[in-house]
Amino acid sequence: MDITKYQLNPQDHPGQDVYGVIGHPIAHSQSPVIHQFFAEQVKDSINYGRIFSELDAFKETVTQFFDRGGKGLNITVPFKLEAFEMAQKKTARAEIAQAANVLWLKNGILWCDNTDGIGFVRDLERLLHQKNIKPATAKVLILGAGGAAQGVIDPLMNIGITDISITNRTYVKAQELAKQFQGLQSISIEELEHQSSQFDLILNATATGLGDSSPIGLDLLKKITHPKTIAYDMVYGKETKFLRDAESLGLWAIDGLGMLVEQAADAFITWRNPSQALDIQGALNAVRASYKT
Ligand code: ATR
Repeated sequence: MDITKYQLNPQDHPGQDVYGVIGHPIAHSQSPVIHQFFAEQVKDSINYGRIFSELDAFKETVTQFFDRGGKGLNITVPFKLEAFEMAQKKTARAEIAQAANVLWLKNGILWCDNTDGIGFVRDLERLLHQKNIKPATAKVLILGAGGAAQGVIDPLMNIGITDISITNRTYVKAQELAKQFQGLQSISIEELEHQSSQFDLILNATATGLGDSSPIGLDLLKKITHPKTIAYDMVYGKETKFLRDAESLGLWAIDGLGMLVEQAADAFITWRNPSQALDIQGALNAVRASYKT
């Protein structure tokens, strides 16, 4: 990888506020497209770029960026924990997640926040509203019991969803999570096959999207859904097998791009405090178009 391509020195952009997204890898990040879109929409002028960091140089890279006048950073895999640890002040949301995806300097103090949860919530609320599904009566199934799955349970409960089931290839992990969250029910794949209820929302929070398998067979997916079921995959940037299967059944197949745009919007508001509402749909269109080019 040509890492020199993904370096960003704020001193190279005098007179402009410089922001970036830092990760390893970073070439795939769509954050610059989203933030530049928001900046143009609200007639703000920022410079937003990608920054590659070696695995053992995160702290050093971040410190150098801010020392050189950088204003704010988004943090992606695998540095969210380190970002949280190095910040001097942490928002309540970051404290709850024990991880941060936003860093910024305010009066010389390094702050961190976590906007991933709120990004997911906002996206989901919009989808439920569009499909006329009421959170209080929605039946939800989470696929997976790793970190991503754990991170969506609280947000789902906070928007008023009470009927939440969780399943996982390694079933004992789903059972453990169900013990930790009051009201969460675990269900094995075998039990799913032998029950008759249908879910309004099925959330793929497994890592299967990164390969090309689905955590659930097509026949089972058909059995536990109805024509208005939302099939939501937290992965973005590729059409996963789970989403292709959902589409083939005529379900509403949704990837994680909306979540990405919403978490970016929240960070942009923290940094720039724009006077008008951000155009979420416009940013989504821009980022989808950039994937196609
Ligand atoms: P993350 O932090 O992204 O959630 P993780 O903690 O490694 O990553 O969790 C990965 C999740 O994807 C787990 O629920 C895992 O199931 P297991 O607990 O059985 O390993 C799930 N997963 C990964 N590959 C899978 C596959 N091919 N089929 C079904 N589930 C899979």
